[in-house]
Amino acid sequence: MTPVITIDGPSGTGKGTIADLLAQHLGWHCLDSGVLYRALGLVAQRRGVELDSADALARLASEMKVEFRAKRVYLDGDDITGAIRTEQAGNAASRVAAHGKVRDVLLAWQRQAAKPPGLIADGRDMGTRVFPDAALKIFLTASAEERAQRRYKQLKEKGLDVSLQLIVTEIRERDERDRNRSVAPLKAPCGAFTLDTTSLSIKEVLDRVLGAAGGVFPDSVG
Ligand code: DC
Repeated sequence: MTPVITIDGPSGTGKGTIADLLAQHLGWHCLDSGVLYRALGLVAQRRGVELDSADALARLASEMKVEFRAKRVYLDGDDITGAIRTEQAGNAASRVAAHGKVRDVLLAWQRQAAKPPGLIADGRDMGTRVFPDAALKIFLTASAEERAQRRYKQLKEKGLDVSLQLIVTEIRERDERDRNRSVAPLKAPCGAFTLDTTSLSIKEVLDRVLGAAGGVFPDSVG
């Protein structure tokens, strides 16, 4: 069976960065599952499908073709790498992700990403639902204020004029929706290695995660 490490947690905890670095370190594949929900939110908005129409969204999810190539994301052949990273795309993703039918359609797609030599999967339900048998489950947290600060800095660096207060509010709303939905809500999986990253640098988080991974996969971590 292909070894899997899951990394779950709310947005802005550094999951994606840590998943990438860990995958590079181990030479394993990496799945950013949030991209699927972001792509679906985008295609729904482009086609005028309501974000609360579970059946129509599930159909769109089964038809859309998402591909990862050279660190870029393609939707039905279109490069959507930039378009899915906006705050609006994140909020749309969180809304389409609340539907059980949508999540069911995307389940098999995510599971087929587990290919040798191994997979690092990041998202909200990687350890609880998609890969419940993963050998190592990591759960990252950070205060909403710190996560908003990180996002604010990223957006400022891109030259965007944004309000920190608005980002804090949006992060809180998104957390609330992701934590309280009835299907596959965001929560720490049983037995997860949980780390509060509020006052840690990326390097410090990576060192701790590598420590945990080394305990489970000593030959791969080295
Ligand atoms: O990780 P992200 O910020 O790209 O995810 C965007 C939204 O997608 C997030 O608010 C909730 C949803 N999501 C999910 O429900 N399950 C996942 N495995 C990944 C993301």
